[in-house]
Parts: sequence; structure tokens; C-alpha cells
Amino acid sequence: MSEAAIAAQLAAAELAGDSPELDAELLLADLLGVSRTYLATWPERELSAAEQAAYRERLARRRSGEPVAYILGEQGFWTLQLGCDASTLIPRPETELLVEQALGLALPARAAVVDLGTGSGAIALALASERPAWQLLAVDAQPAAVALAERNRARCQLDNVTLLVSDWFAELGGRQFDLIVSNPPYIDSGDPHLSRGDLRFEPHSALVAGPDGLAGLRQIIGAAPRHLNAGGWLLVEHGYHQAEPVAALFTAAGFGGVQGCRDLNGVPRTTLGQWR
Ligand SMILES: C[S@@+](CC[C@H](N)C(=O)[O-])C[C@H]1O[C@@H](n2cnc3c(N)ncnc32)[C@H](O)[C@@H]1O
Repeated sequence: MSEAAIAAQLAAAELAGDSPELDAELLLADLLGVSRTYLATWPERELSAAEQAAYRERLARRRSGEPVAYILGEQGFWTLQLGCDASTLIPRPETELLVEQALGLALPARAAVVDLGTGSGAIALALASERPAWQLLAVDAQPAAVALAERNRARCQLDNVTLLVSDWFAELGGRQFDLIVSNPPYIDSGDPHLSRGDLRFEPHSALVAGPDGLAGLRQIIGAAPRHLNAGGWLLVEHGYHQAEPVAALFTAAGFGGVQGCRDLNGVPRTTLGQWR
């Protein structure tokens, strides 16, 4: 392994997954502190023995299935670069749909917003970056996830987000909001995907929600009306096969204007409702 571009190509050949070449390049570019373009532009760049050893270690982790984002310790989401670790979910591009929808709602200029199950802080921080006048509260039941979101808040220099450890609304008293957003765990405990791919490395606390995957959504939708101002919105992400039961939960809780939304691949992804 004598030069950077060849090293990345060789590494790609050793890796499994959907995008071995990209993974190999990302791991090498990050290690060298350069861009992927640099690898292509300067193929003569020599790797030192220490760089080769460090790169081999990263490739071994990736070969074992560990997600690239955990190896790099960060992931892009919306316009932000966020730290990520094994305390919570790696932010997914699909969740940007929920951010887009929230930004499109008719809300007061200084809206009070809560993000339930904030994980890395992805949703709350993306909204805060776009709406500096909004006041965001971001909660998670896992103290380690709240600590990660707080580090991301500081990294993104966003002062309009407050972090709190809470089991959904449990620590929020009688606080009310103009918008409640959540991407809660929604995989059922028997789903075979849990033992495949990236999901093997992400914590069950971020993925699994009882035997039907709806336990978290049921709790959030049922309790949301007590925490919404008149005219306030509830917006949640859910599994592709959960659009109907989730819409039924919204209606049963008394929400109006209930509507589901599909992502760019045409997959049902979110549901929205308004509290009258
Ligand atoms: C699917 S992850 C979403 C993380 C982040 N919002 C995102 O979109 O990338 C769900 C998050 O909900 C949190 N969570 C699970 N149960 C919770 C509960 N009872 N109360 C608060 N947060 C909870 C998990 O710790 C995890 O961080």
C-alpha cells in the first residue's frame, strides 16, 4: 500500500456493504485530514507506517460491520456536522423530511418547540439553526444521548436549544408548546433487521418500541394534547407500514387535519396533526 488513491481502492475491495469505495475513501480522507477530492488529485501521497496501521484498524472495524459514522465519530445532517456515538441513533437523511415539514408549518415567530427523543440533537439543532427566534427544548431518556446532544449544541453554537433528560413528557410539568416533533424508536422487537447491518451497532433504546413498534408513538400521541397550545402541531416520524395505525392514534387523541407524508422514495414516513 504505497499511495493514497490505490490504498482506498484496495480497501474498498475488502469491504462489504452498499458503498465500499465511498466508505474506504471517507475513512482514509478523515484519517489524513484531507478531502476525498484530495485523494483523487494527489494519488502520489505516501502513507507513513503509522497511517497505514491506523487505516488498517479502521478497515477492520468497518469489515466487522461497524457503521462509518461511528468510526468517524460524526455524521452530516441538514446543514450541520454532528458528533455521533453508540448512545443513540446515527441521524438519517430520511429524517430531514421531518425538519422540512416543521419549517413549513404556520407557527408563531417565537414558537416554543419540543423534540422528544432528540438523540444526537439532530432535529432540534437543525430547526434551531433555521429559526433563531424559536425556543427549542430537546429531551431524551438516555443521559449519554443528552450529553452528546449538548456537545453538538455547543459545536453548532446554537443558544436557542435547551437539553433535558426526560422520559418523554415526564419532566416537563405542565409546559405547553406550539410544535412537538419526534422521531421515536418504532421497530418491533421481533424485526429480523435488528440483527443486520448498521442496526446491530445502534442501541435498542433508540430503535425498539415493544412487540408492534408503536409503544413510543402511542405514549407520545396520547400525552401530546396536554402539552400543546391551541392550534399547535404534533409531527412524528414512523415506520413505512405504520401510517394507518399512527393516523388512527392521532384521530383517537382528538387531532384534526391528520395527514401522512411520503419521503422522496414514495415511502410513508411522517404523520402530522393539529390540536384545536
Ligand atoms: C430513533 S432515535 C432518534 C434520535 C434523533 N431524534 C434522530 O432523529 O436522529 C430515538 C431516540 O429516542 C430516545 N428515547 C427512547 N425512549 C425514550 C423515552 N421514553 N423518553 C425519551 N427519549 C426516549 C432514544 O434514546 C433515542 O435517542
